[in-house]
Amino acid sequence: MPTPKYNIASIPADGIGIEVVAATIKVIEHLAQTLKTFEIEFTHFPWGSDYYKKEGRYLPDDVLDVLRKYDACLFGAVGAPDIPDHISLWGLLLALRGPMQLYANVRPVRPFPGTRVRFAESKPSDIDWVLVRENSEGEYAGQGGRSHLNQPWETATEVAIFTRIGIERIMRFAFETARSRPRKLLTVVTKSNSMRNGMVLWDEIAREVAADYPDVQWDKMLVDAMTVRMVVKPESLDTIVGTNLHMDILSDLAAALAGSIGVAPSSNLDPTRKNPSIFEPVHGSAFDITGKGIANPVATIWSAAEMLRWVGEASAADTLMTALEEVCRKGVLTPDLGGTATTESVATAVCKEIEVIA
Ligand code: NAI
Ligand code: MG
Repeated sequence: MPTPKYNIASIPADGIGIEVVAATIKVIEHLAQTLKTFEIEFTHFPWGSDYYKKEGRYLPDDVLDVLRKYDACLFGAVGAPDIPDHISLWGLLLALRGPMQLYANVRPVRPFPGTRVRFAESKPSDIDWVLVRENSEGEYAGQGGRSHLNQPWETATEVAIFTRIGIERIMRFAFETARSRPRKLLTVVTKSNSMRNGMVLWDEIAREVAADYPDVQWDKMLVDAMTVRMVVKPESLDTIVGTNLHMDILSDLAAALAGSIGVAPSSNLDPTRKNPSIFEPVHGSAFDITGKGIANPVATIWSAAEMLRWVGEASAADTLMTALEEVCRKGVLTPDLGGTATTESVATAVCKEIEVIA
């Protein structure tokens, strides 16, 4: 059988995104060369804030046709100090997530070797979660507008959109995710006390979908109470699903509770597989450390492992994760985790560890 070959679109974009994607590609190419069980080719795209300053837009018109030729995308981070964040985020990342219907944003959270849980009472084993974020509608649907500019009654609306189809597909995805994990436990996060329309529809659809998953135990939480439960009773949680806004916030909290934003990975999935999925670290472009060579590449390498798993290379993904964890366990850590390693030296250490394991 010929070895499978994967074509990956690389979009490093801005700031430390460029640094961590370069380090990750080096690791993944080394993994492929060492294992020889698959081939992988990265094609680089220059889309980001420099491209925007030259071209007046973040993405070319034919971007969707271009990306659909690839098996998956590896993304860095977008955002520059001299461009408003809503322009950069909507110009690049949100311009892809919506049109490509990458409706499931999946963020595994567990303490990584080298990190420590934030609360003295918590044991590392207390946190082992998968956060599932609705990624295509809700509060980030982009509906709304501004009027009466510069009047004292200047008005802005931000309309959250919740559709039956959008809620049901993410709910099924979340129940499937919960079912695939040992504890088969799902928590549905809403705010259906004060938001009496969209959030109530979420609750109703959760109950409907749950009937198809009698083997999954589920409960629901209001988002404010959920922040408390994540801190106080982390061991009571496993798979968590919620809206675009709620899970955006809860996933940063989760990353901080488990250790560091520098190790937090994410996948933007089109579960129908009609479009290539995008894999990226949770963090942004980190202006404060850009160009210093000290950005933690672990979040992006872990995201790339999720990418390999998604395209069908689970065994290679396992090898990569074992190597990555071993390197961190040995204390090769960037300054955000209290170490002195550079982005480059972590990547080199992971490459060496892959050779030991393979
Ligand atoms: P950020 O995630 O870029 O940085 C927050 C803090 O975490 C900073 O102190 C940074 O140094 C640190 N940090 C982040 N990643 C790290 C890593 N890999 N290693 C070591 N330390 C790390 O968030 P911030 O500062 O709110 O946003 C900066 C820019 O990034 C903004 O333009 C924002 O819109 C954008 N952004 C983009 C995202 C994306 O492309 N998915 C996600 C979040 C923010
Ligand atoms: Mg966020």
